Amino acid sequence: MMRRSFVLLVAALVVSSLTLQAGSAPVRARTGMVVSQSDIASEVGWQVIRGGGNAIDAAVATAFALAVTHPTAGNIGGGGFIVYRAANGQATSFDFREAAPAGSNAEMWLKDGKYDFDLHHNSHRSVGVPGTVAGLHMAWKELGSKPWKDLVTPAVTLARDGFEVSHGLARSLAGTLDEFQKYPASLAQFSKNGKPYEAGDILKQPDLARTLQRIADQGPAGFYEGETAALIEKDMKANGGLITREDLKKYQAKKREVIKGTYRGYEIIGMPPPSSGGIAVTQMLNVLEGYDLKANGYGSAQNLHLIAESMRRAFADRAQYLGDPDFVMNMPVARLISKEYADTLRKSINPNKASKSSPTTFTWPTESQETTHFSVVDANRNAVSLTYTLEYGYGSRIVVPGAGFLLNNEMGDFNAGPGLTTEQGLIGTPPNLAQVGKRMLSSMSPTIVAKDGQLFMVTGSPGGRTIINTVLMTILNVVDFGMNAQEAVDAGRIHHQWLPDRISMERFGFSADAMKTLQGMGHTISEGGNQGVAEVIVFNQKDNMLEGGVDRRAPDGGAAGK
Ligand code: DON
Repeated sequence: MMRRSFVLLVAALVVSSLTLQAGSAPVRARTGMVVSQSDIASEVGWQVIRGGGNAIDAAVATAFALAVTHPTAGNIGGGGFIVYRAANGQATSFDFREAAPAGSNAEMWLKDGKYDFDLHHNSHRSVGVPGTVAGLHMAWKELGSKPWKDLVTPAVTLARDGFEVSHGLARSLAGTLDEFQKYPASLAQFSKNGKPYEAGDILKQPDLARTLQRIADQGPAGFYEGETAALIEKDMKANGGLITREDLKKYQAKKREVIKGTYRGYEIIGMPPPSSGGIAVTQMLNVLEGYDLKANGYGSAQNLHLIAESMRRAFADRAQYLGDPDFVMNMPVARLISKEYADTLRKSINPNKASKSSPTTFTWPTESQETTHFSVVDANRNAVSLTYTLEYGYGSRIVVPGAGFLLNNEMGDFNAGPGLTTEQGLIGTPPNLAQVGKRMLSSMSPTIVAKDGQLFMVTGSPGGRTIINTVLMTILNVVDFGMNAQEAVDAGRIHHQWLPDRISMERFGFSADAMKTLQGMGHTISEGGNQGVAEVIVFNQKDNMLEGGVDRRAPDGGAAGK
């Protein structure tokens, strides 16, 4: 009875909180707000704030709920990053990126001397030691205020009693059915005896509920030790994977100093390595600060050119320098985010002509779009920006038998192998080669912006390397062009990543004239589908209101708050 009423309560609240206003008005709330890719999970987080919890409490509850309701990317078997800003301005970050297990090495993706894509991306060896549970627990232990168990329990209930499959989830599960066939536990969890779920069905995940219950009762030990760890190890041993109980027990989340920058008087707070996000976003903003984007006009070819050129340069540096700071000792972080360096970069930009990315260096492998970001602000205006991922949609697609959760394939974010840099998209530069205990370089860019000592904006997105540029553009949209949160999320996005040397532009996002002018400047343009799924909160300081932007590029997202 209790359980059923919880699910019904969540469902009812979701409906009430989802009334998006006409046009591009943001969702407004005064007390607190959670914006995520799952309306059910946003509601779970908002209820925590409503009950007096703070932003970290709400983030923990939302993250666990997403692991149930948004299995594409919500997870306990993956990893990610939290950027946190307290109302008093103190900021910190938590790194719970996956780590390479014992037995990993830079050449582990070679089979008979040849690079093996499937081994790298689609196998038990592609799984990194998961970090999510440790990271959420570390953030909660340091900053949370509500009992841990209370924050995990809503997810236990959703997994045990089930939730209604949305149209979007049904489509996504059906599209992945073939890949689940390889793993009986995955097929059992995400299909009805091999038949796809339909919208309106109830998806129950009993094994996941039991694992979440162990986490609720025991904290990280319920995941990294005991039954859950034994189940992971068993599956690894049976399938040529590397992760052992020892790797799990050793895993530690890390608190890291945030990347701090400024942009036109706003304070930028970003995620440091092993994410490249904070550095790249700050570097691009520093370059763009030297131009009057507002005067050039939103969507003008001139602006798009300058933005693309700043992207090109940040991505070149990312590739050359960045990796896990505990392994790569010589990262020039201070230089990359300095205003002086931005001055130098700006001098290399011709305002009327595209630069050329050097073809002697490498291009990039393709990436999926499946990560997830959410933003949280509580009653005191503490803020959490959290992005986490399984890497591909549904990660490795491997559900741990008996444990009910999906494992990541994050090892695919390590470079292919030493010297394996090819025009076809392999990367072999040293900073991001696999090593035991090392964390693979990420593009996830959870970011918080402050103004006049107060919170101003919480932003982030999935999208592989496009994440960095999506986050950049949400900030430009609000700061330079005065858009509200929803307009900033809706606006068209572009992506340049140095190599391949082209600008991808969202279809219908830009005028034909602007695109033609860019081509005239020497840019190669490709028109593509959606870029990212940014979930944004802007704090309207004057009105003391939170304004949420929900990204409708993906189904099921929602802002919850009041
Ligand atoms: O950490 C990273 O940068 C990637 N593993 C994120 C993957 C991703 O965003 C895929 N899609 N959204």
